[in-house]
Order: sequence, then structure tokens, then C-alpha cells
Amino acid sequence: MSGRLQSKTALITGAGSGIGLESSLLFAQEGANVLLADINLAAVEKATALVQQRFPNIKALAVKADVGKEADIKAAVDLAVSEFGRLDVMFNNAGIMHPEDDNALNTEERIWDLTMQINLKGVWWGCKYAILAMRQNPVDEARGLHTGGSIINTASFVAIMGAATPQLAYTASKGGVLAMTRELAMVHAREGIRINSLCPGPLKTPLLMDFLNTPEKRDRRLVHLPMGRFGEAVELAKAALFLASDESSYMTGTDFKVDGGLTSAYVTPLGEPVLPPPASLV
Ligand SMILES: NC(=O)c1ccc[n+]([C@@H]2O[C@H](COP(=O)([O-])OP(=O)(O)OC[C@H]3O[C@@H](n4cnc5c(N)ncnc54)[C@H](O)[C@@H]3O)[C@@H](O)[C@H]2O)c1
Repeated sequence: MSGRLQSKTALITGAGSGIGLESSLLFAQEGANVLLADINLAAVEKATALVQQRFPNIKALAVKADVGKEADIKAAVDLAVSEFGRLDVMFNNAGIMHPEDDNALNTEERIWDLTMQINLKGVWWGCKYAILAMRQNPVDEARGLHTGGSIINTASFVAIMGAATPQLAYTASKGGVLAMTRELAMVHAREGIRINSLCPGPLKTPLLMDFLNTPEKRDRRLVHLPMGRFGEAVELAKAALFLASDESSYMTGTDFKVDGGLTSAYVTPLGEPVLPPPASLV
């Protein structure tokens, strides 16, 4: 049986950890050649070695790229096209949550600028170079390959809900991702290029767990989660796979929420969750 991304090429940013790492493994498992990009070269090389070891028939490459630098993103997209011949899936997933990000009074301009540079401008550039590449994708009916492609931009539930635990720059950057994605989706809808946002709820990845570094801080969040647990990166990877594949062919411009019910909640249930979280692919 062929995979859900058979013969396709995917570029994943922030591939050295969390959602990006799980997605790299899952996309490769489903038949895609993958280019793993991250600012942390050691992490992305380790991730790529794992993909190659698990899926020897898949081509996997690592590249050091800072998504806050336009030249790095262009180079990564060019590398995907030169090595794999096309770009079908662009997962603009890398993002930061700066420890000094705070409220409107305390957040320093340099924190705002850095966060916007990576979380919002980085996504813009990722979309820009992916669109240019996807327009050139050769059609290969026999292998189910077409022109255009699927772009997935990682936003966050904080782009939809207010939190009294402020991270002004992060929240604003993610709101920007949602708005920008909708507009891009409309502009390119007739080119076979679908562009969707992925909106994770709070996850058990280093990005959030480094921040919620005491049981009190974690409990402050857990009470708001209907399922009574944080999400797992692999649960987001599965949603990203759906958006990446042709199974979501009639979806573009959506805010795809994978949040354990968080954004639908008023009062959450008491008690422990009965189901365990799914296992990581790593
Ligand atoms: N963890 C959560 O609770 C949560 C919730 C909502 C949204 N998100 C978003 O999901 C995305 C992935 O987060 P995660 O939880 O997997 O985090 P993570 O910290 O596990 O992984 C993020 C990866 O991005 C890389 N990275 C950081 N800055 C980069 C840059 N400038 N260029 C390239 N790579 C860079 C890091 O080296 C790391 O490997 C982020 O955009 C984040 O904002 C996370």
C-alpha cells in the first residue's frame, strides 16, 4: 500500500524537536522525502539520522536554517528542489516563546522584534519561497503528483483566546500567522496551493515545559484543559499529515485547532483522564 505522502517532498522547519521532529518521522513513514531544517544543527542532524535509520527507502536531508533570515529559507527551499526535484509540502513550524516576553508594560522592544522576526516574518518567507517553488512543480499523473502543494503554518491557541499569563509578542505573532495564512490562502486558491494554519493547544514539548517549570505553573494551565492533560507533539504531527496530504484537498485558509477541546471550554470536568496519551514516534 502506498503512503499518504508517497513520492512527495516535504520541508519541515523546527524539525529538531517537538512537532517538527514527530512530523518528520510521520511524513517519511507515509512516503515523503523530507528536508529537515532547524537553527540547531546538531538536533536536526540527529533527527535526520533517525529518519534515515527508520525509513531507509526515503531520502532525508538536514539543513541548518534560521527562519528569521530570508536567505536561509530561500536556500532551504532551493535545496529541497535541487535534491528532490519538487516541493509539495512546506511546514512552517519553527517558533520561539521568549522567556522575557511579558505584558504590554514590561516587554522590551528587542523581544518583540525577535519574536516577530522568527514567528511571523519567518512564516511569510517560508510561504513566499514555497509558493514560488510549488508553481514550478512538474505534473506526474502516474505517481499522483500535481502542480501546487500544501503549506501549513503553525500558529497557536493563544491566537484565539486571551490569557492572563501574558506573552504579548508571542500572542501577537501567532495572531498574525492566522490572519496572514487566510489571506495567502485566498490569493493562491486557484493555483492548487492550499495554505492552512495549525493551532496547537498547550503541548508537552520543551517550548512550553521549559516555561512551565513548576507543578504550580503546570496546574494553573491544566485546570483549563477539558481532557485533563497537555497535548503530545505526535498528535499535532498527525493533524499536519492530514493537512499535508491530498485528503484535505477541499481545505484552505482554515484555523485547524488541535487543542483537546480547550477553545470550546467554559467549565472543564473533574477527575483524571481515562485514556493515556499516544506514544511518541521518536
Ligand atoms: N508547545 C506548545 O505548547 C505549543 C502550543 C502552540 C503552538 N506551538 C508552536 O508549535 C511550533 C513548534 O513548537 P514545539 O512545541 O514543537 O517546540 P520545540 O521547542 O520542541 O521545537 C521547536 C524547534 O524550533 C527550532 N527553532 C527555534 N528557533 C528557530 C529558528 N529561528 N529557525 C529555525 N528553527 C528554530 C528549535 O531549535 C526547535 O528544534 C512553534 O511554532 C510553537 O510556537 C507550540
